[in-house]
Amino acid sequence: MADSTASDAAAPVSDPTTLRRLYGRRQGHALRAGQAALFADLLPHIAVPEAGALTATSLFGHDCPLWLEIGFGKGEHMAAQAAAHPDVGLIGAEPFVDGVVGALMAVRDDGLANVRIHHGDALDVLERLAPASVDRVFLLHPDPWPKARHAKRRFMNPGPIDRIARVLKPGGEYRFGTDHPIYCQWALMQMAKRRDFHWLIDGPADFQVRPDDWPQTRYEAKARRLGHEVWYFRWQRA
Ligand SMILES: C[S@@+](CC[C@H](N)C(=O)[O-])C[C@H]1O[C@@H](n2cnc3c(N)ncnc32)[C@H](O)[C@@H]1O
Repeated sequence: MADSTASDAAAPVSDPTTLRRLYGRRQGHALRAGQAALFADLLPHIAVPEAGALTATSLFGHDCPLWLEIGFGKGEHMAAQAAAHPDVGLIGAEPFVDGVVGALMAVRDDGLANVRIHHGDALDVLERLAPASVDRVFLLHPDPWPKARHAKRRFMNPGPIDRIARVLKPGGEYRFGTDHPIYCQWALMQMAKRRDFHWLIDGPADFQVRPDDWPQTRYEAKARRLGHEVWYFRWQRA
C-alpha cells in the first residue's frame, strides 16, 4: 500500500534492538499560503513541547486519559477519535508536513481542543512519556517495508514495541491495522513472542471486521477501494 520511497532516504539500520529512528521531518510539495499560515499560527499552540517529560498535565493542562497515534497520516482517525472522546487527550506523531497540515485543518474545522501534535518521530514521544501513563496506542497502516532486507525498519519490531509496552498502562490497548499481508504476518509473529500483551480475540470476526469505535483511516479507505482485505488487531497490555 504505502510508498516507501520517502523513507528510503532515512539512515540504514544497524541497531540490534531494531530501534530505527527517522532523521528529520519530511516535506512533500511546497505548502500553499493558507497551509503555511496554519502551520505557523496553529501548530505552536498544540505542538508537543520540544523537551521535557510528557504528561497529561504538561500537554493538556489537566489530568485525562492519554491516547497516542503513531504515524497519523493526514489525521482522519485521530480527529474522529478526538471528537468522539472529548475527555481523552490525543497525541499524534507524524513526520510528514502534509500530514501535519491535514491534522491541523481538522483541529481547526472541528474545534478540537484535545489534540497535541508531534511533528516528527513517534519514538521521541514514546521515550518522553512516563511508564504506564497511556491508555491506548494506535499504529494504523504503518509503512510496510515489504522487502525482507528492510524488515528491521518496520515499526512492529522489538525496540518500538518495548517502548509501547513501557508507556501503556496495565489493561491499556495497542491497536494495529494493515492491509499488507507481509506486514500482517510479521506483526503477528512479533506480537506472538510477547508475554506482556494479550491478543483480544474471540474469533476471526475480531480481525476481519473493523470495530465500531475504530474510524477509518485514509489508507484503509484506499485499500478498500483497491479491493484489499484489511485486518484489525487489538492487544491488551498485561
Ligand atoms: C502508510 S502511512 C499511513 C497513515 C495513516 N495511519 C493512515 O492509515 O492513513 C504511514 C505513516 O506513518 C508515518 N511514519 C513512519 N514512520 C514513523 C515514525 N517513526 N513516527 C511517526 N510516524 C511515522 C509516515 O510518515 C506515514 O504518514
